[in-house]
Amino acid sequence: MNIIGKKVVLTGAAGGMGSALAVALSQRGAQLVLVDRDAPALQALAKRLDGAHAVTGDLASTTGCKHVADEISSLLGGVDLLINLAGLNSFRPFEEEDPQAIERLIHVNLLAPMLLTNLLLPSMLSQGSGRIVNVGSVFGSIGFAWFSTYSASKFGLRGFSEALRRELADTGVRVTYVAPRAVKTPMNSDAIIRMGEATGMNMDLPERVITRIVAAIDDDRKDSYIGFPESLFVRINAILPRLVDWMLAKQNRIAAKFARL
Ligand SMILES: NC(=O)c1ccc[n+]([C@@H]2O[C@H](COP(=O)([O-])OP(=O)(O)OC[C@H]3O[C@@H](n4cnc5c(N)ncnc54)[C@H](OP(=O)(O)O)[C@@H]3O)[C@@H](O)[C@H]2O)c1
Repeated sequence: MNIIGKKVVLTGAAGGMGSALAVALSQRGAQLVLVDRDAPALQALAKRLDGAHAVTGDLASTTGCKHVADEISSLLGGVDLLINLAGLNSFRPFEEEDPQAIERLIHVNLLAPMLLTNLLLPSMLSQGSGRIVNVGSVFGSIGFAWFSTYSASKFGLRGFSEALRRELADTGVRVTYVAPRAVKTPMNSDAIIRMGEATGMNMDLPERVITRIVAAIDDDRKDSYIGFPESLFVRINAILPRLVDWMLAKQNRIAAKFARL
């Protein structure tokens, strides 16, 4: 997809990756609607970008998602590109998760992309073109200990992306699933950073991931798994999950200390 002049919606726009991606898309000539819940940060970002609109909303509820979709439709009419980037993380033993926090994470990471797609897809279908980009994670293909809720949300997002891509194959609307490995952004708590250092986890700079997301859009890719050897482990886990159990066992024991901090 050629981004120039396209009507682009970006959720999570005020975040670590979102703000860098918003700048990159604006530089490529996109007509942007930026979505996030942090109104001051969002407004400040929109002001820096030529013609960008800011829509403040909470994607943790169905009402919040509908409000955001209504605002987008009244600002843009139709949408060419929806990038579902907003997300939450959780790193703790599953029995210590608060039930409401589980619900919130699943809503933001999985239900919000599904609801926004459901509400904005009709305009893409009627124009016979468009793209939905869902930002998942390597944790959406490899279930990681102490990240059970997060992994579940990203597995769901990957399944949704695959099914919808197949469903829309003859419509002109495309679906891209992007799976970064760990990235240096505020999403990762001190405990995650310390666990990452102790286990030798690779962490990318947001700029690297942004470049790959933009390339996936440019090249009409159905998916993009970012980082080696993580992208290889995704394939190995799909065919030999017991081998990955064994490979991760030591790392899981080290990570346990940090998950309980
Ligand atoms: N960082 C990583 O290691 C990593 C690795 C793989 C994949 N990813 C994925 O990449 C995406 C972007 O992550 P990031 O690293 O840029 O994280 P980030 O810096 O925390 O940005 C996420 C953005 O989503 C927003 N958000 C959270 N809950 C929301 C809600 N209820 N309504 C509206 N907006 C909400 C956050 O707002 P607040 O700041 O107000 O919470 C924040 O601006 C996520 O989907 C994440 O799962 C990240």
